[in-house]
Amino acid sequence: MKYDISDINLSSQGKKLIAWAERDMPVLRLIKKRFHEEKPLKGVKLAACLHVTSETANLAITLKEGGASVYLCASNPLSTNDMVASSLVKDFHIPVFAIKGEDNKTYYQHLRAVLDTNPNQTMDDGADLVGMIHSTYKHLLKIVVGSTEETTTGVIRLKAMEKDKALKIPVLAVNDNLTKHLFDNRYGTGQSTIDGVIRATNILLAGRTFVVAGYGWCGRGLAMRARGMGALVIVTEIDPIKALEAKMDGFMVKPMIDAIKEADILVTVTGNKHVVDEHHLKVAKNGIIIANSGHFDVEINKGALKKLSKKSVSVRPYVEEYDLGAKKIYLLAQGRLVNLASAEGHPASVMDMSFAGQAFASEYMWKNKDSLEHKVYKLPDELDQEIARLKLKAEKVEIDSLSAKQKKYLESWREGT
Ligand code: NAD
Ligand code: ADE
Repeated sequence: MKYDISDINLSSQGKKLIAWAERDMPVLRLIKKRFHEEKPLKGVKLAACLHVTSETANLAITLKEGGASVYLCASNPLSTNDMVASSLVKDFHIPVFAIKGEDNKTYYQHLRAVLDTNPNQTMDDGADLVGMIHSTYKHLLKIVVGSTEETTTGVIRLKAMEKDKALKIPVLAVNDNLTKHLFDNRYGTGQSTIDGVIRATNILLAGRTFVVAGYGWCGRGLAMRARGMGALVIVTEIDPIKALEAKMDGFMVKPMIDAIKEADILVTVTGNKHVVDEHHLKVAKNGIIIANSGHFDVEINKGALKKLSKKSVSVRPYVEEYDLGAKKIYLLAQGRLVNLASAEGHPASVMDMSFAGQAFASEYMWKNKDSLEHKVYKLPDELDQEIARLKLKAEKVEIDSLSAKQKKYLESWREGT
């Protein structure tokens, strides 16, 4: 079996981490049991490009139980847990191509390694595999029945490809599941981004000014959790509705050029480029800590930061001090996803729903391979609802159901005052 990981001897701790995550993934456990019995993915050769965490390991194991051959590479050079990668190879016989801290050349070598297996289905977190299949791996367009996509930035790219008629395979946008973005992006990113900032710096948040760039699903969660830690939160936005929502949620809203002057900590979560640009960095407060939790490392203009700096030095793991002469700026995790680089990403409980969505999407894609067109699809609402139902059941939460009278009332338009 071919693989490329940091150290095969790290497997015993990795196995424990995978089991620890599984404890908090009841929905995925149920799916794994059914997959084991029904083998709905028999015949699937799946190349997956995801953050190689203990939660992802449980997804990979579930897909394998369903009959798929799974090949895994990382969707970010800094997000791999080497212990987990080792256990996946040694204990679960799943080929992994991922090393924490790999350089860009190795990162793409690993993407090529999973595509070189000639997969017939792909799974992305950020559309990297689909991008390669449409450029240097075009021959796979004939055999790949479709792909599933985990994150907002990936879905945006895939929809742009569809709009340009450049998309040549069907895609299921798992991020568009309500059971994904309402929980993973909001509560997952909210908590794990704070976790990443704290693990990297060990700073106190209480009383500090914390700027959140972007008030989408992730930004809302992050602003909420930063406030919960006692920080004074300022939101920056470009969308008037989101800005108004942030204001009415009780946050200060300012343009970046003003917010950065006050920020002790600033985190970008927009999915956009150069949200913190050269002119912002020039007026930033001395000692500011800057991080990113958006998918790509483009949100902070790192080139401009380097240009403005006399020198830079690593002062702690994942903390780089940039000396601009008159002030110092601290950049966390090279501007890459701080929650996955210096912490462990979202907790298992929330990834349970995201990855239940991926497992359902993979099954749905295989079952409907002959009828799906070259479009970006949402998973059927019933499957999304089913994930929520299973999660509630696992958490022993009961809810009411409509009476026949109520159902009729909701469907009628005649009854009034
Ligand atoms: P979203 O579309 O819900 O929100 C993005 C927000 O950023 C929007 O409200 C948009 O108006 C705003 N924005 C865009 N450009 C801006 C700018 N220049 N200044 C200020 N605001 C700006 O997206 P989301 O689901 O919140 O995802 C955001 C990013 O986080 C994406 O890249 C996504 O892939 C990524 N993501 C990361 C994690 C993680 O684990 N770190 C998890 C989920 C999503
Ligand atoms: N994205 C955010 N958190 C994650 C996790 N724990 N595992 C995989 N992908 C993630």
